[in-house]
Amino acid sequence: MKNFNFDTATRILFGKGKTDEIIPEIIRSGSRVLLAYGGGSIKKTGLYNQVVNLLNNDRIYFVELNGIQPNPRMKSVREGVRLCRENKLDFILAVGGGSVLDCAKAIAAGVFYDGDAWDFMIKKASVEEALPIGTILTLAATGSEMNGNAVISNEETSEKRAMSSALLRPVFSVLDPELTFSVNRWHTAAGVTDIMSHIFELYFTPDTGTLVQDALSESLLRICIECGPVAVEEPENYVARANLLWAGTLALNGLLGAGKSAGDWATHAIEHELSAIYDLTHGAGLAIVFPAWMEYVLNPENSWRFAKLARNVWGIEVTDDMAAARQGIDAAREFFSSIGMPVSLKEVNIDDSQLTEMGKKACVFGPVGLMKELTAEDVTAILRKAL
Ligand code: NZQ
Ligand code: ZN
Repeated sequence: MKNFNFDTATRILFGKGKTDEIIPEIIRSGSRVLLAYGGGSIKKTGLYNQVVNLLNNDRIYFVELNGIQPNPRMKSVREGVRLCRENKLDFILAVGGGSVLDCAKAIAAGVFYDGDAWDFMIKKASVEEALPIGTILTLAATGSEMNGNAVISNEETSEKRAMSSALLRPVFSVLDPELTFSVNRWHTAAGVTDIMSHIFELYFTPDTGTLVQDALSESLLRICIECGPVAVEEPENYVARANLLWAGTLALNGLLGAGKSAGDWATHAIEHELSAIYDLTHGAGLAIVFPAWMEYVLNPENSWRFAKLARNVWGIEVTDDMAAARQGIDAAREFFSSIGMPVSLKEVNIDDSQLTEMGKKACVFGPVGLMKELTAEDVTAILRKAL
């Protein structure tokens, strides 16, 4: 295990009715609020009215930024920066899924930056200062509620890129499982796939001796496999929703990666190209790419790690590591398919016309991946396997 510092800046307010506690949390960090949300789900569920009433009752000044799309665009980021500057806002309250939270983070950093906030995404600028953010999460998936990452799409260049800074970690996040009851089957399954993929990315590293991290990862994966199908079939099952919500947060809040190399992250880099060009749901892209990536990088030297996952998560009892690993990959593909995710590009009507382009774009900052460093040609080959 490597040396590490572990730091959790975000206060988590977990459970039924916890939205009622946001006002003291906001007042601790700001007084003029940007209320950021998506395409309307919070209006349908009544959460919007609840939040607005809470803000009005305490006479907290707020300005709204609505219509943030899945795979959030720079247009919303630029609009949010403008609203914050013009209205001298000092706090962002993001209410929604990962896309709303990520957009809020890019705005929070963009307010203090003279250039265009896209510069953060292309590593032309780094975050020096950011507005404080609070979140009310409505979808279990990204872990954005307790990390400093944001992923933004540039509609003009068909690129999707990530930024990361400890300054972007929310100061508080409300995690009320009941707020996720209204998530439909598709986005529930995509969220489960995303959570599992974050755990895979952090599990598949060349590190040895990381028994705690491995055991935590395997447990969280088993919870996703148990609760995912339940949440898809019974959207108002509190136990399933609560455990998925907490699993999603723990999967990408730094816990599983502490003491290890940074994680593989090749699959995410590849998936972001799919979402960028085809506006595919992130989790659906991961369900297609992850099994193909696993098959591509598996070899006799690294098979012990794939086999460990196969045995401890999928219950495969085969002694040969390569055979166990292959069965584990099949099990992952079958699971994603069973919860309604696509497992081939064909299923989402993506053909081979852009595979070379996506390979090049995924490696624009150099090779991706840790288990195997992947070049643009490797990425194209993985996408071809996924056809
Ligand atoms: O826009 P609204 O109307 O709110 O509808 C959303 C959206 O259509 C809907 N939704 C959310 N909560 C709901 C709900 N519908 C009914 N009831 C609710 N309670 O779900 C749809 C998808 O929302 P979105 O926010 O896009 O989903 P998710 O949370 O999966 O976020 C995906 C984005 O996060 C990025 C992805 O790339 C993608 O852009 N990621 C962010 C990460 C991070 N910040 O750490 C890491 C991830 O790997 C990921 O890349
Ligand atoms: Zn993800």
